[in-house]
Amino acid sequence: MKRLQQFFNKHTIKQVLDIGTGSGDFVKILNDTFQGEASIIGVDPGEQWLKEARNNFPQNNIRFQCMSGEKLAFDDHTFDVVSIANALHHLQDTTTTLSEMKRVIKPGGWLIICEISDGELNEAQKNQQLLHHFKSFVDRLHGITHRETYTPDEIDAIIAQNRIDIQESFTHLKMKQPKFEEQILDEKYEQMKSLLEELQGRPEYEAKKDQLPLFKERLQKYGFQMAPQHVVIGQVENED
Ligand SMILES: C[S@@+](CC[C@H](N)C(=O)[O-])C[C@H]1O[C@@H](n2cnc3c(N)ncnc32)[C@H](O)[C@@H]1O
Repeated sequence: MKRLQQFFNKHTIKQVLDIGTGSGDFVKILNDTFQGEASIIGVDPGEQWLKEARNNFPQNNIRFQCMSGEKLAFDDHTFDVVSIANALHHLQDTTTTLSEMKRVIKPGGWLIICEISDGELNEAQKNQQLLHHFKSFVDRLHGITHRETYTPDEIDAIIAQNRIDIQESFTHLKMKQPKFEEQILDEKYEQMKSLLEELQGRPEYEAKKDQLPLFKERLQKYGFQMAPQHVVIGQVENED
């Protein structure tokens, strides 16, 4: 992410924490940003993700721990940078997590909040959103916290309510253009299909099953593209 590199190239960053790290997609971005010179810890409550993350990142400067954002097992003022990427909408308690993130940041350190966002989407990005919202719907039926996508304004409001000063914000496109490769379209169709299969035997299945052929049609017509990510670099607001 060029803008992150430009922002941080004038600062020395040694200790970094990534919350809701999953299989480590954002850890890769952080490690590139800090040119492999920072020590990075990724935390996530899902042990299945961490197993994947540990395989993806065998480097000595990167490690992973099983932990929820709401209760971070680190001392106050430990990290130069604390990030959360695409996980805000998974949190049961956003305020507690952001206040934990603030607690473990060194004075003068930075928060990075990167979140997939709603807003003006092209048809290929709407396909990603349809899949994402369907996944969040199925997760909620299973009792798992998973909101639909926030708008950039909602993300900024959450940040401001939690007394984080926005230093810089920008939009990041993980996929610059809609993708039409058969393998990607098949994979997205299969993901939607298996989510629908999870609903079999429930009344929601009948209500949702017509979405699958429509989704296939839309994928073929418009392709698939990740929705834009809203990225904010912030600092803890002064208390006075
Ligand atoms: C969509 S993934 C994002 C993964 C990665 N950060 C990325 O950008 O690709 C959301 C992650 O949030 C994690 N998560 C869910 N609840 C959480 C919580 N309370 N605290 C921290 N992470 C949580 C999930 O386990 C999942 O790995």
